[in-house]
Amino acid sequence: MNLVVVGAQWGDEGKGKMVDYFSENAEFVVRFSGGANAGHTIKVDDKTFALHLIPAGIISPGKTVILGNGMVIDPASMFEELAGLSAQGIEWEGRVVVSDRAHLVLPGYKSEDRSIDEHRARPIGTTGRGIGVAYGKKAFRDGIRVADLWDPVIWNALSPSDREWLEPYKDRLGIMKVNLAAYMMANQGKHMLFEGAQGALLDVDHGTYPYVSSGISTASGAAVGAALGPRKIHKCLGVFKAYQTRVGNGPFPTEMSRGDDVNLADTLRELGHEYGVTTGRPRRIGYLDLVALKYAGWVNSLDGFILSHMNLYDGFESLGVCTEYEIDGERIDHFPSNIAELERVKPVIQTFAGWEGKVADARSWDEIPVGAQKFVEFIEKFTGVPVHGYSVGPLRDETFMKEDPWTQS
Ligand code: IMO
Ligand code: MG
Repeated sequence: MNLVVVGAQWGDEGKGKMVDYFSENAEFVVRFSGGANAGHTIKVDDKTFALHLIPAGIISPGKTVILGNGMVIDPASMFEELAGLSAQGIEWEGRVVVSDRAHLVLPGYKSEDRSIDEHRARPIGTTGRGIGVAYGKKAFRDGIRVADLWDPVIWNALSPSDREWLEPYKDRLGIMKVNLAAYMMANQGKHMLFEGAQGALLDVDHGTYPYVSSGISTASGAAVGAALGPRKIHKCLGVFKAYQTRVGNGPFPTEMSRGDDVNLADTLRELGHEYGVTTGRPRRIGYLDLVALKYAGWVNSLDGFILSHMNLYDGFESLGVCTEYEIDGERIDHFPSNIAELERVKPVIQTFAGWEGKVADARSWDEIPVGAQKFVEFIEKFTGVPVHGYSVGPLRDETFMKEDPWTQS
């Protein structure tokens, strides 16, 4: 079975942790989009792993991880990450497979990325990892793919400094590279987990363009970016937090940016350690946006949600969620495409009473405090997507499912 896990907000929803959790029952874990802009934190016992390019399945012994053709790979970052994993006791040799159609990020792309962004009238606030430049060159057909390293015409057209930089990675990539379409076909029928990076609202098509990343971060990207057809995707799960975060610039209708909201944002930021794994930037914080979440359900054809960080509201007297937007005195219930409109909308916040007891202590649906269950049922009804699982803390055993992820719906 092929199971996709994507972010349903602006990234950092806790996808990495969930992918690590689901990896136990998968044979293959495939990243299908993005590059070293992603930052996935995984805590196992007393160890913390910070992953950027390598799929989170690497932490589980014996699993094969695949970097798909939809990714843009900086080989220096990748081998540095792998060396870091070795230092933490993870044996990865023979378990990392790279699509030979994946594009490479060359050293100059990072400075180009930063310089382009600085000169934009309205900077995006990219991670500076050369992601947009690599995808731009891909679309422009000037990119360089893993397979191209062995094409003498393409190789010789590279600058001498790029060739010198790439040379030491050639043999090492040569061992890992596969023709992914054939590899995937040969392994169909086994449990494959597809790990999304970024989130629905950062998707180049469906996100808050131009304040987005450059890859496909919605579930369709799993087919495109892992050399499969769309009919091979069997189930899509979307991870979201009980509040909303965003790193970088761009519209954020429910941002807690005024008056008492600023204190609430500070509290949630500290409780949730909301600082970027890749850049260390403090994340912007907002109320859970159900208008946007419903939209994320549509563009990903979600079968279910995984709800994370609801435990942060334990002990709160009340909490708010956005159920509608108001613009120019009118109420709207859809997520606007126009950025100027999205920047103008005011969230309509519905307030829920807090709950007795702790979501953090729950290990099954029945153990979730009744008030929190009501909050969940409201979200399910509003979005039309059931919540299949919960992450109530950073550790593996602080995770539980209401529905078996590996059962086809
Ligand atoms: P994970 O996988 C949160 C944001 C950047 C910036 C915009 C474009 O950890 O959820 P880019 O460098 O991709 O061109 O930057 O996208 N961004 C992320 N925000 N989580 C991520 O990944 C992100 N990857 C990119 O902050 O606003
Ligand atoms: Mg992240």
